[in-house]
Amino acid sequence: MRVLSLPQKNATPRIEERPEPEPRAGEVRVRITAAALNRRDVFIRRGLYPSIQWPVIGGSDGCGVVDAVGDERHSDLIGRRVVIDPSLEWGDDPRVQGPDYSILGMPHQGTFAEKLCVPRGNVHDAPGHLTDHQAAALPLAGLTAWRAVTTRARLKPGEKVLVTGIGGGVALAALQIARAMGADVWVTSSKPAKLEAAERLGARGGFLYTDDSWRKQAAKAAGGFDVIIDGAGGAGFGDLIRLLAPAGRLAFYGGTAGKWPAILPQHLFFKQVEILASTMGSHAEFAALCPFVETHGVVPVVDRVFDLADGAAAFDRLEAGAQFGKVVLAIG
Ligand SMILES: NC(=O)c1ccc[n+]([C@@H]2O[C@H](COP(=O)([O-])OP(=O)(O)OC[C@H]3O[C@@H](n4cnc5c(N)ncnc54)[C@H](OP(=O)(O)O)[C@@H]3O)[C@@H](O)[C@H]2O)c1
Repeated sequence: MRVLSLPQKNATPRIEERPEPEPRAGEVRVRITAAALNRRDVFIRRGLYPSIQWPVIGGSDGCGVVDAVGDERHSDLIGRRVVIDPSLEWGDDPRVQGPDYSILGMPHQGTFAEKLCVPRGNVHDAPGHLTDHQAAALPLAGLTAWRAVTTRARLKPGEKVLVTGIGGGVALAALQIARAMGADVWVTSSKPAKLEAAERLGARGGFLYTDDSWRKQAAKAAGGFDVIIDGAGGAGFGDLIRLLAPAGRLAFYGGTAGKWPAILPQHLFFKQVEILASTMGSHAEFAALCPFVETHGVVPVVDRVFDLADGAAAFDRLEAGAQFGKVVLAIG
């Protein structure tokens, strides 16, 4: 089978041939038709995670068709079109992942391959209204956004939400989930065109975080946010705290812009706000996300589709930060 391999740190991804994997007991094999990239894949290529074993066949997002099973009792799954839950071995505690937790696509083989074996519990019927490319765009970003918005920030219909850096995959999923839940959503971006695209997806408005007066504009437009979803951190994090409404919740899942600034405790305790850390999501959360997406007709945004053989160009697209939505690899 063909795989997209990262042979070593900072190398150009290239197509290689590998033997087809055989499903073990409890596993199913998926013939992957589409995969999608995440910031994680770019960080792996740069060698930013500890103890990476090269070569890496990355990819946490995938859609495909089950073509073999390790157990006869799962034979009814053969031929089913599925999306893959990228969380491996979350564990028993819904509050936090256990010590054996990992994310599909390093250290285990990921979805940038024609075939992949995963535990049976990691495959779910692909939402019927989505194409394979759209379904492949859902898993990691959708799951991360789902946990941050629902489990951690406990969003309620009618609340005011701010989602930062709407060009990000998780941010876009958070906008779509929050809109589907009946919230009023505003967004931030570095690019006017991305703010306009977010408004077409249902955002009430948007602010350029590169503009020094954006916090004032946001406070004027919304008067304070019940929920803020942030993946950037950095010097602007203090502005987010100032924008929380009394009893507001700020759920964060990333730190693209680095360290937080010094935070004045008074800006937190008087308003009785909560700062909530969030990572990925449990198997139960992924199982809840899929029917939510189908019921509400949520369509993950696909930025561009590349052939698996053009994987290097797909990585470059994400590195350049020009994307709005997910960068997808067509495989099947
Ligand atoms: N904890 C988890 O489970 C988890 C899961 C997924 C991702 N992450 C992390 O979350 C971060 C985002 O990942 P992703 O894959 O969603 O994003 P992505 O597709 O890589 O996009 C990153 C976006 O961040 C925005 N950004 C950059 N600097 C910013 C700033 N100073 N203020 C506000 N926004 C800023 C940009 O938005 P504009 O283009 O609109 O300016 C950019 O498009 C990464 O650090 C990633 O490692 C964590």
